[in-house]
Amino acid sequence: MVQIPIAIVGAGGMGGRHLRALGALYESGMANVELAAVCDLREDNANHLADNAEEILGARPEVFTSMEEMRNKRPDIEAVDITTDSGSHHLVAEMAFDLGYHVLCEKPLSLTIRGCNRVIEAWKKSGKVLSVGEQERRDPMCRLNKAVIDSGAIGNPYSFLLGSASGGSDIIIWPWRHYKNIGGIFVDAGVHAVDQMMYYMGDVEEVFAVSKVWEPKRYRGERLGVAHFYDHWFDEVPDEIDADSEDMVISTLKFANGAIGQWTSFYAAHGEPMRYAMIYGSKGSMEPAKQRRGEPLRVTIDGEGTIEGDQVLDLVPDFHLDELPARLFGGDRLGSYVGKVPFEDADRFLVALEYYELGQCIAEGTSPEVDAYVGRKDLAVCSAALESSVLGRPVTIAEIENEETAEYEASINAHWKI
Ligand SMILES: NC(=O)c1ccc[n+]([C@@H]2O[C@H](COP(=O)([O-])OP(=O)(O)OC[C@H]3O[C@@H](n4cnc5c(N)ncnc54)[C@H](O)[C@@H]3O)[C@@H](O)[C@H]2O)c1
Repeated sequence: MVQIPIAIVGAGGMGGRHLRALGALYESGMANVELAAVCDLREDNANHLADNAEEILGARPEVFTSMEEMRNKRPDIEAVDITTDSGSHHLVAEMAFDLGYHVLCEKPLSLTIRGCNRVIEAWKKSGKVLSVGEQERRDPMCRLNKAVIDSGAIGNPYSFLLGSASGGSDIIIWPWRHYKNIGGIFVDAGVHAVDQMMYYMGDVEEVFAVSKVWEPKRYRGERLGVAHFYDHWFDEVPDEIDADSEDMVISTLKFANGAIGQWTSFYAAHGEPMRYAMIYGSKGSMEPAKQRRGEPLRVTIDGEGTIEGDQVLDLVPDFHLDELPARLFGGDRLGSYVGKVPFEDADRFLVALEYYELGQCIAEGTSPEVDAYVGRKDLAVCSAALESSVLGRPVTIAEIENEETAEYEASINAHWKI
C-alpha cells in the first residue's frame, strides 16, 4: 500500500495521542500514511514527540519549528495533521492550504464561526482534502448506537437528554481551556457532545441556553487530564489561574426532525460527579454506549423489555463495521468490547481510523465523513448556546453560521484580528 508522507503540527498532549494512533495504524498492516516530520513552535515539544515517534514507529521524523521551512525542505510531505491548541486552528489551517497541504484538523475547526468560514474559504480555493478530527462517532459502539436509532427500534426520536457535571475548581488539563479567547472547556468538549447528538438525531436548528462562569479562579489539581498524555508538562501548569470561559451551559435544543434535546454541560461541579445520556422515542428508549469504554448500549422497548450487549445486534442484522475498525477492535459486529480492548487502545484506534480515512481521501479524491461543514455545524451549536445566553433569546443555527449575530464571539475574533 502506498504510504503518503504527513507531518504532525502541534506536539503537545493531543499530538502525542495522534502519534500513538499512527502506531496502531502501522501495527494494523493497513497504514496508508507515514509520519515524515513534526512541527511545533516549541522546538522542545517537537523533539519530545520525535523521540517518542522513534520509539513507537521505529523511525525519527524530521523536526521543524515552521511550516514554511518544512515545505521548502520536505516538499514530499502531502498532508499536515493539525494538533495545535484550538485558538490557533484557523491560522494554521489557512497557512497549510496556502502552502498546498491536505489537512486533518483537530476539533474544533476554529474557536469562532468567522474562523471556520475563513478556513472553508482557503480549503475551497486549494482543492485539497479537509477532514475535521472528530473521532468519537467512529467508535464501534457509537456506530451501533446509530444503527439502532436508524433501525426504528425505539420509534421516532422524541428527545435526547444529555448531561455531565464534574471539574470543581481544578484546571482542566491545560490553562487555555479556561480562557475564552484562546480556548474554553465548553466548546472544547462541547463539539464532541454535539457531534454525537447530531450523528444520531440529525441537525439541530435552534438553541436556547443560559451560561455562567462559576469558578473565576482555578487551581492545579493532582492530575491534568486523560490518562497520562499530559504528564510531561505537569510542572508547567501554574498553581492558580484567572478563568473567564463558561463552565456551565444549560441548553434546550430543537432538532430539525422535531425532537427536543436537553443538554447540561457543567465543569464547575463540586462533590459527586455525574453523567447521563438517554434517547427517547415513540416506542422505547436507548441509553447510548459511550465511546472508548466498550460498554454495551441498552435498549428498552415498550411491551418487550430491556436488552443489551449482543442481544442488541439482533435489532440490526445488517450492521457491520468496516475492515479497519473490525481489524483493530477484533470483530465486525460487536455488542460490547469490555475486557477485550483497553481504554488507551480504543483511544488510539479511533484516531487511527481518522488517519486511514485521510489517506483514502487523498488517494481516491473522496470526502471525509466529518468534513468542514460538519465541523462548523458542531461548533455552531455550541456558539448558538453561548450567543443565546448573551442575547437572552433562542438563536438559530442558520443565524450563527451566516454570522448574522456574533456578539459572543466578537471578543475572540478581535483577539485574533479576524
Ligand atoms: N479529539 C479529541 O478527543 C481531543 C482531545 C484533546 C485535545 N484535542 C484537541 O487537540 C488540540 C490540541 O490540544 P492539546 O491538549 O494537545 O494542546 P496542547 O496545548 O497540549 O498542545 C498544543 C501544541 O501546539 C503547539 N502550537 C501552538 N501554536 C502553534 C503553531 N501556530 N504552530 C505549531 N505549533 C503550535 C504548542 O506549542 C503545543 O506544543 C486542541 O484543538 C484540542 O481541542 C482533541
